Amino acid sequence: MSTIILASLKDTEILGQRLGAEARPGDIITLSGDLGAGKTTLTRFIAQGLGVKDNYITSPTFSIIHEYQGRLPLYHMDLYRLQELSMDDELGLEDYLYGEGLCVIEWPNRLGEMLPARRLHIELTIISEDSRQAVIGEFDGGEQKKY
Ligand SMILES: Nc1ncnc2c1ncn2[C@@H]1O[C@H](COP(=O)(O)OP(=O)(O)OP(=O)(O)O)[C@@H](O)[C@H]1O
Ligand SMILES: [Mg+2]
Repeated sequence: MSTIILASLKDTEILGQRLGAEARPGDIITLSGDLGAGKTTLTRFIAQGLGVKDNYITSPTFSIIHEYQGRLPLYHMDLYRLQELSMDDELGLEDYLYGEGLCVIEWPNRLGEMLPARRLHIELTIISEDSRQAVIGEFDGGEQKKY
């Protein structure tokens, strides 16, 4: 695990661009943190790093998942409202979780037992108006690796 300080939006942009540039098919990035911590903002920069042309990723609040096309497909899930929806197989989330794109998931704990074991997890904490702490860890289903 590593802890970094994102002192400004620029630092968040650099992190997101790098994650997007390095993503491989089937990768999953889970993003936790309070409302306003920067999960959607980081996702927007990840999309840029992936070469997604729509330069504005809005929060997919009313639809659970938004799909974008870059170097790889980007599946952006915001599961905040998942408990209000019926958590059954009809949502078909597995098709995205185990697909060929990059999955970026806000509020991943809503997945419960469906939470994929192999993923990069980032926990964002608000430090001040412009700065955030990011704790980054890679999970491979067994031990936790240093990022
Ligand atoms: N260093 C920073 N990194 C990320 N966002 C920042 C930073 N500094 C300020 N912000 C601002 O914080 C806000 C983060 O909002 P955002 O919608 O990304 O949060 P969120 O974690 O997705 O919240 P929600 O849980 O409501 O979806 C944005 O207005 C963004 O501009
Ligand atoms: Mg959000």
